[in-house]
Amino acid sequence: MTNHKTRLAAFCSGTGSNFQSLYSAINERGLPAEFALCLSNRSECGAISFAEQHGIPTLHLSEKQYDTYEAFAEAMFKALQKHNIKYILLAGYLRKVPESVINAYACKILNIHPALLPKFGGHGMYGINVHKAVLEAGEKESGATVHYVDAEYDKGPILLQRKVPVEPGDTPESLAARVLKCEHRLYPDALEILLTGNIS
Ligand code: GRF
Repeated sequence: MTNHKTRLAAFCSGTGSNFQSLYSAINERGLPAEFALCLSNRSECGAISFAEQHGIPTLHLSEKQYDTYEAFAEAMFKALQKHNIKYILLAGYLRKVPESVINAYACKILNIHPALLPKFGGHGMYGINVHKAVLEAGEKESGATVHYVDAEYDKGPILLQRKVPVEPGDTPESLAARVLKCEHRLYPDALEILLTGNIS
């Protein structure tokens, strides 16, 4: 029997709560896709454990395992080919994807960023730093953005964006929690658009 499910790879470095919300949404919404690989630069993290528990192949891949960056990039590309991956979903992946892989997967890599790009993106803008910067700038709203990945950090075309309010008395942590809740809905919505062209 042929399998018509679109094969996805999740790239993660941490908890992988976005990966988990994508995984659940595929089942709950009956999306025609499946995770066929979870790749991480860390040998142990929440995302890898989740993948192992759900029978998703995992791969620990780090620059440190290779003599050259090119060899590392080649190993990443080969793994993607081996697992027949169509789309890559970056979910808290704290490394740059090698340019050769970005070129090979042009318009097929998505990332989620915890702010309203193009604001509060780019070098150093990850994790709690993003929310600190939003509060320091006195913004009245923040949000989350799903965008295509190209060679420039956080600069690729935006697929979907949603706002959340900044509340009086917010700390970076309270804002991060509100944004993360939004991300857990937004990323599945973006995946659904990617796969089917609309949101159910
Ligand atoms: C999220 O805030 C995401 O926007 C950013 O990194 C965080 C990852 O969290 N890219 P998790 O690993 O998905 O829980």
